[in-house]
Amino acid sequence: MVKHPKPLVEIVGTGRYVPDRVLTNADLEKMVETNDEWIVERTGIRERRIARDDEGAAQMGAEAARKAMEEAGVEPGEVDILIVSTATPDRWLPSTACDLQALLGAGNAMAFDICAACSGWLYGLTMAEGYLAAGRGEIALVVAAEKMSSITDWEDRATCVLFGDAAGAAVLKKATGDRGILSAHHKSDGNLADLLYRPGGGAAIPMSEEVLVDKGHLVKMSGREVFKNAVRSMADASGTALEKAGLTGDDIDLLIPHQANIRIIKATAKYAGIPMEKVYINVDRFGNTSSAAIPVALDEAKEAGIVGPGTVILTAAFGAGFTWSGMTIRL
Ligand code: ACO
Repeated sequence: MVKHPKPLVEIVGTGRYVPDRVLTNADLEKMVETNDEWIVERTGIRERRIARDDEGAAQMGAEAARKAMEEAGVEPGEVDILIVSTATPDRWLPSTACDLQALLGAGNAMAFDICAACSGWLYGLTMAEGYLAAGRGEIALVVAAEKMSSITDWEDRATCVLFGDAAGAAVLKKATGDRGILSAHHKSDGNLADLLYRPGGGAAIPMSEEVLVDKGHLVKMSGREVFKNAVRSMADASGTALEKAGLTGDDIDLLIPHQANIRIIKATAKYAGIPMEKVYINVDRFGNTSSAAIPVALDEAKEAGIVGPGTVILTAAFGAGFTWSGMTIRL
């Protein structure tokens, strides 16, 4: 393995957006048969943010994207490729990326969505990396925007306590030195799709009164199976990303794992050989915001001065599909 691989692209700006409305565990106690102790012990979540009814993925993504572009010193018209990761597109057609493009005025970009659930933002970084490295453009904007509250069954206590809404974004340019993406490892396994999915409302089972009554358009999850696979896949994601970069846990300044569950985060850190002091955690405040979790955490960690130029981070994600990703980045 190459020690210190030369990066092709670097992150030159990040941004985040979380809605103002806070939904606490105490609020959920009034909605379903649950309690704060159970939720905190099993997940580490204390509260999550819920978007306004009139606030969609594109709007949330635009807020995060504007901040990322501002930090990068990039105008919307300079963006060549705009990728949106979302499991909650505002509409089936066109893509949320095209709606976001219009909101931003990023009229010179090619814009499209990717659907890779919680791993989607990391998948998007690699798509952008390839586009820029191929010389097809100079500036990429990769956004994750998730309104998980819109696909949550608010009567299902096994899932409704887990999710929250948020958006995160990054601007990428071709690397000029040793800063940038050092390694990436992406995988998926469609055989396990039905462990975490929305059965109805798509082309196979179009929306109907029956789908609505059965709540087939909302998230269904086999929690224990998802948990087991998440631990295994996050270990593969982080371990292989480290190996591909020729790094070990000792070389990592901060682990930014997908924020689904504190127990999954602890298992991932242990496997990667990274002490919990070097693990960024905000699952307690935001819950699982799917693919927005990592860019939101990265932007927070930068703002808090925990990471900065030259810092090496490891990220790892796991989500529906299943999909999983690991990445090392020198910021
Ligand atoms: N409050 C109180 N009790 C509950 C709740 C709740 N909110 N939810 C379930 N329970 C009960 C169950 O009914 C069950 O009761 P029983 O024993 O009487 O049948 C008991 O708690 C245990 O249920 P389990 O599902 O076995 O609980 P588990 O310890 O597995 O924890 C959890 C559940 C937190 C969902 C866990 O399985 C998990 O974290 N799974 C992974 C979820 C995840 O990360 N999903 C997203 C990853 S992909 C992505 O990010 C999109």
